Amino acid sequence: MIVTIDGPAGAGKSSVSRQLAARLGFHYLDTGAMYRALTWWVLEQGRDPGDRKGVAELARQIDISFAGDRVLVAGQDVSQAIRSPQVTGAVSEVADNPDVRQVMVSRQRDLARSGDYVCEGRDQGTVAFPQADCKIFLTASAAERAQRRCRQLVEQGESADLEEVLAAQNKRDLRDESRPVGKLVKAVGSIEVLTDGMDFPQVVDHLEAIVVKELGL
Ligand code: DC
Repeated sequence: MIVTIDGPAGAGKSSVSRQLAARLGFHYLDTGAMYRALTWWVLEQGRDPGDRKGVAELARQIDISFAGDRVLVAGQDVSQAIRSPQVTGAVSEVADNPDVRQVMVSRQRDLARSGDYVCEGRDQGTVAFPQADCKIFLTASAAERAQRRCRQLVEQGESADLEEVLAAQNKRDLRDESRPVGKLVKAVGSIEVLTDGMDFPQVVDHLEAIVVKELGL
């Protein structure tokens, strides 16, 4: 069985999807981590993230695997490295590449054949798994997402300026919504969940109730 969770940056998709998968006894597939891992590798090799053909070739070659919460490239743990500002700054360009998306979607489908999955990203319910058993569009208002991100940065001991965070987020939203292939849109048949005012356990409980009902578990 496949559950897809798509939505904009900062909606809390990753932590919620991971927790939901654990509760359901499903595997969790973080597709953003796949684009990040590829971006890390492109930068590591000193290649240009905008080189469409070259990056697509690297996408075909890269060995990405998951070990629990860890993301591995050719066996090397890159879980931290793929969250660096350098990777975050370049990942959109890599994810915009239609040839890269084709390779990644095909890998996602191959992976999900091996069991029950919660697949999280931007295009999981629209492109990768339009026939998924349950499709969720998880979102929150721009202001709420930016505030959460600021709180997270402060908790990590970093400085956070709400205006700056909001501006960066708007840029990412626009890019996610306007890429020609795999753009962020609400999938047909998906259930929209607006998480404004809900805390993490409430969101997970709510999603679990939806999935249990939809899948008849
Ligand atoms: O969710 P995230 O921030 O880890 O995603 C990293 C980047 O990858 C972000 O620019 C959106 C993009 N992405 C995508 O285009 N398609 C997906 N299925 C998942 C992520």
